[in-house]
Amino acid sequence: MIIYRNMRAEDVPAAHMLLNSNLDGKFSVEVIEYFLSFWPRGQFVAVDLFGNMVGVICGAKLNNGRASITLFAVDAPLRGQGIGGKLFDTFRRECYMEGFSAMQLELRTTNSSAYRFYNKRGFEITEKVFDLYGPGENGYRMVAELNHVSS
Ligand SMILES: CC(C)(COP(=O)(O)OP(=O)(O)OC[C@H]1O[C@@H](n2cnc3c(N)ncnc32)[C@H](O)[C@@H]1OP(=O)(O)O)[C@@H](O)C(=O)NCCC(=O)NCCS
Repeated sequence: MIIYRNMRAEDVPAAHMLLNSNLDGKFSVEVIEYFLSFWPRGQFVAVDLFGNMVGVICGAKLNNGRASITLFAVDAPLRGQGIGGKLFDTFRRECYMEGFSAMQLELRTTNSSAYRFYNKRGFEITEKVFDLYGPGENGYRMVAELNHVSS
């Protein structure tokens, strides 16, 4: 059984560890602390019954009326079991309740599994962002309107 809930300050070290071991690129713990302080209700974690962190989604409020998915990962051995889908639905519901018009994210052009995940959930590529992740490492920006949220 997995519990989906808002991130708390004491979750930050475990969230940092999970994200750094499951995403390309490394970032400091302050990045997660920043997202949490900026938008506490826009950060969610998935934990198992023993309290182990198995998934994290971090969001940010953009100044164009959209919410951004900034960091999102499920621990590699546990992928494909619906944890990411539930975390995403939890985040999307919060965005809808807070009145955002759309969700936006960036991902590596090479990340085809994440592309499929998002495309299936209504995201479309709106832009190719060159060198987003470093020289020659391009990204796609994807956007999904927030006009309907299923229960
Ligand atoms: C994207 C990610 C968060 C999704 O989490 P998840 O727990 O695997 O998500 P789900 O199980 O709900 O859905 C994964 C989809 O891939 C399929 N899948 C099957 N086996 C899988 C596996 N071993 N690994 C990943 N996905 C698998 C699932 O059936 C599901 O298909 P669906 O979307 O058609 O239902 C996760 O794959 C991940 O952490 N990826 C690496 C980090 C990353 O790319 N983050 C996004 C960058 S913006």
